[in-house]
Amino acid sequence: MTQPDPLERLRALQAHDLPVHGGRTLAYVYDSGLPEVDRVGREAVAAYAGSNGLDPTAFPSLLQMENELVGFALDLLDGPGTAVGTVTSGGTESVLLAVQAARDAHPDVVEPRMVLPATAHAAFHKAAHYFGVEPVLVPVGDSYAADVAATARAVDEARDRTVLVVASAPSYAHGVVDPVTELAALAAARGIRCHVDACIGGWVLPYAARLGRAVPPWTFAVEGVTSISVDLHKYGYAPKGTSLLLHRTPELRRPQLFASAAWPGYTMLNSTMQSTKSGGPLAGAWAVVESLGDTGYELLSREVFRAVDAIVAGTTDIDGLDLLVSPQSTLIALVTDASCDAFTVCDEMATRGWYVQPQMSYGATPPTIHLSVSAATGAHVDELLTALRDSVRAAQQAGPVSVDDDVVAFIEALDPAALSDADFDGLLAASGLVGGGDSLELPERMAEVNALLDVATPAMREALLTAFLDRLSRPVRRADGIR
Ligand SMILES: Cc1ncc(COP(=O)(O)O)c(C=O)c1O
Repeated sequence: MTQPDPLERLRALQAHDLPVHGGRTLAYVYDSGLPEVDRVGREAVAAYAGSNGLDPTAFPSLLQMENELVGFALDLLDGPGTAVGTVTSGGTESVLLAVQAARDAHPDVVEPRMVLPATAHAAFHKAAHYFGVEPVLVPVGDSYAADVAATARAVDEARDRTVLVVASAPSYAHGVVDPVTELAALAAARGIRCHVDACIGGWVLPYAARLGRAVPPWTFAVEGVTSISVDLHKYGYAPKGTSLLLHRTPELRRPQLFASAAWPGYTMLNSTMQSTKSGGPLAGAWAVVESLGDTGYELLSREVFRAVDAIVAGTTDIDGLDLLVSPQSTLIALVTDASCDAFTVCDEMATRGWYVQPQMSYGATPPTIHLSVSAATGAHVDELLTALRDSVRAAQQAGPVSVDDDVVAFIEALDPAALSDADFDGLLAASGLVGGGDSLELPERMAEVNALLDVATPAMREALLTAFLDRLSRPVRRADGIR
């Protein structure tokens, strides 16, 4: 080893990241609050970090763990005896594969399309982009749930080309469960697949129902649901890197499987997008599910819903803050009134040690504050509510962030497709996303940046943030060369 202790530097680097424990990070991470479960998961990841999920015959233990995880999930989600599933690397990969399988089940369809509520996760847009499937977005109404009649009309506009109908359980942005029974029925009546994206809710909603909470039906118990995605690295409280894609029958999954013998090496045989893949995440998820079991998840669900109810009750008491819609799961979307703006509240929460996620306005929906509540947040709800109350007060005192009218007009007049790299450099500097020189330090407070992004069109926002990511992702070259 040329470096005495690389882990020391790693820990120093990691100190700048959001905390993954403690229940104060309310997006990106899901914390059971149980150190022992966490330890088991991490040790399993480490034990399998070098194992290769490429070949289940070479690493049969990975196949065994995968099949056990799928079995657990199917029991949880009312899977029929015919159902099958695959462990993927995350929600996006599960969604990508669901769309790919739906497309490839119809090789005769030249311009495939899928019909989805406008609230469906962006992973479907990525799938549309990768696989050439036209996304037909159906606006949602005041309830933020999918509009069944409008979905039926959208399907019937080009029924022969429609390969998939999508529902969320629940949607990430608003935490609302779509009317899956009706959507699946309209899809089935037309011979079309219906995918339920339960990436974020799939491991917690069954327990919510068991605890007597009102959850509309959405699992395989609903006729016409052909596939479900559910993430283990969210409310399965597993280490990052695992989701499940479940299909009602092996026939429905068949187009997802890929083999190529068209080269001189081993016959490539994959059920996922990756080929060589670490056994670590799968082993970590298996170990966490083994250690928690059904009883453990039920207890964690009790804890998380107690927290959700307390947050809901507490926020409605805070002047200036309200729920966008009543949460049906563990996700809360908050709106502010005209006395302050959501982005400043997020900044104020950050200064108080809480990460809550700003969501931009979308159509008629104003900017919102997203909270993914974890079991570990349960012990800190009073502190969270105090922080929210103080943050709203501070944001009211600071006044709403405003974007200069000239800047709005300037940004509105730009066509992102026609901008050069140099134009983006200027825009990134003007927006505050990238400092004048080579500095990529983000400002401490993001409200101004978010307010500016919020007035940009979605296309402009995408272009700006893509340019930003490009600038972030640049190699670090040591002055003294490699060592
Ligand atoms: C409903 C839903 N679908 C898909 C995804 C994508 O999952 P991932 O970030 O694991 O790729 C998410 C992530 O939050 C989600 O909430």
